[in-house]
Amino acid sequence: MTTAAGAALSIRHLSVRFPAPGGAVVAVDDVSFDVGPGETVGVVGESGCGKTVTALAVLGLLPTPPGEVTGGQVLVGGRDLLTIGARELRRLRGKEVAMVFQDPMTALHPAYPVLDQVVEAVWAHEPELGPVAARARAVEALDLVGVPDASRRARAYPHEWSGGMRQRAMIAMAVLHRPRVLIADEPTTALDVTVQAQVLELLRGIQREHHIAIVVISHDLGVIAEMADRVVVMYAGRIVEAAEVSELFAQPRHPYTAGLLASLPRLDVARERLVPIVGSPPNLAAKPPGCAFHPRCPLRAGRHRCVDDVPELRPVDGAERVTACHYAGELAGSTRLEAEVDVPS
Ligand SMILES: Nc1ncnc2c1ncn2[C@@H]1O[C@H](COP(=O)(O)OP(=O)(O)O)[C@@H](O)[C@H]1O
Ligand SMILES: [Mg+2]
Repeated sequence: MTTAAGAALSIRHLSVRFPAPGGAVVAVDDVSFDVGPGETVGVVGESGCGKTVTALAVLGLLPTPPGEVTGGQVLVGGRDLLTIGARELRRLRGKEVAMVFQDPMTALHPAYPVLDQVVEAVWAHEPELGPVAARARAVEALDLVGVPDASRRARAYPHEWSGGMRQRAMIAMAVLHRPRVLIADEPTTALDVTVQAQVLELLRGIQREHHIAIVVISHDLGVIAEMADRVVVMYAGRIVEAAEVSELFAQPRHPYTAGLLASLPRLDVARERLVPIVGSPPNLAAKPPGCAFHPRCPLRAGRHRCVDDVPELRPVDGAERVTACHYAGELAGSTRLEAEVDVPS
């Protein structure tokens, strides 16, 4: 993708591997993308495509070992998070980059009241505050994310809160110190549908107000459509397509993206020319040669090139769109989906 000089977050050629019997597994393979200030970039792909490993590597939270970042840069505010020391990284985490995880139950400590944990997050970057001021700051932060009667309720333990309220608390902690970049990894996947919508609305509101750059990671293109300005599609550790959200929905340029779109509910009218994807992503220890998607690809049709050559990302329809399919041109004009999905234009 293009390099924006003023990017809030710039991920360049990030690669991560894990040891595996008979060799290493490349879980993230040369991933590059930028997120502008106040922009939301969605990262989508089926389970196991490397989304979470990317996020953890960006924040220096990847357990190493077993993981190993084998290359790349993660630039935030002129610094490379991959090369600064652990102490500096702790100082930046929460202040420059923050993360919201899928399951707030595992991110919150079960043995302490929610309020104590928000107060700890306050103190992480404002150690000068006394206990009364820190508690007031924590309650205010919970108020702002819509926790009703926060000063009283926050004395309860995480298990006494609903999933949606816990996620609100996690978001409150993540944005306490106005980070430049917020990474939300499947922020609503553990929640039921109504609560999902509320949490997404909360994230959008925070973004509008504070102009935070957001990376929203989801296996669900519906969530991406609600949140993102731009989309990065990952498959087997690599970016296979990136585009503006409205353009991607109107006209996918990679058969994997077309398959993800075809699997979305509510697309029944225009769906006939899209082929839902069969099968599942490869085990990375036995990644197919050439294009990793070829065993599932409707465009492959016996072509050798798909098996022999790894397709590089290349521009299509102008500089902002890239695809990694040898035969992307064959998707052109086959789908018009914008009437059926609720996509920001
Ligand atoms: N702790 C680990 N040990 C070994 N391999 C791992 C580990 N975590 C992730 N992986 C590998 O990285 C791949 C990508 O995982 P992940 O980023 O969690 O996928 P996603 O978030 O897209 O569902 C997995 O398919 C697996 O091969
Ligand atoms: Mg994940």
